Amino acid sequence: MAGEQGRPSPQELPPHRVLISQAELAARVGELGRAIGRDYQGRSPLLVGVLKGAAVFLADLIRAVPGPVGIDFIGLSSYGAGTRSSGAVRVTADLSVSIEGRDVIIVEDIVDSGRTVDFLRRNLGTRQPRSLALCCLLDKVSRREVPVPVDYAGFVIPDEFVVGYGLDLAGFFRGLPYLAVLEASRSA
Ligand code: PRP
Repeated sequence: MAGEQGRPSPQELPPHRVLISQAELAARVGELGRAIGRDYQGRSPLLVGVLKGAAVFLADLIRAVPGPVGIDFIGLSSYGAGTRSSGAVRVTADLSVSIEGRDVIIVEDIVDSGRTVDFLRRNLGTRQPRSLALCCLLDKVSRREVPVPVDYAGFVIPDEFVVGYGLDLAGFFRGLPYLAVLEASRSA
């Protein structure tokens, strides 16, 4: 039976272990927010969340940045065989505002191969933002195929399949308040 508010209880999840606890996430997101606040003092950066995984992180991050911020979202899809990013990325839901002259910070849940962020940097870069930076919660450095500059990184994590705090497996587990590794899994 589903737990409170439809969330599966820990017993209902596949075998998993906590990689980053709720408290650790809150502390690190707070640090990232304060760092962004310092770096963008006197400005009002636009945080662009990449759907869907970054929605949870973005929601917490905007409350951790002292000072005004704007938010918007962009939907991206990478398609190809298997679960690995094929590198062919397309926009499925575009921004709702112009970013011309804005200080833009891309907010991602995870950077893996780097292909999604590489595409997005190029795409947003053509729209004349004043500046363009990247804030990711998780950085799987060991999996990088395309070098991308990461301005703010929450945690560098090993090559394991993580779920929770916005990250999913087939649409499930995004609502877990912590980050977990599914046992006997490798990143795909
Ligand atoms: C994930 C993640 C990044 C991307 C990172 O999105 O949110 O956007 O993959 O991988 P890359 O660095 O290899 O390009 P996913 O396709 O799982 O979509 P979702 O956020 O909607 O779950």
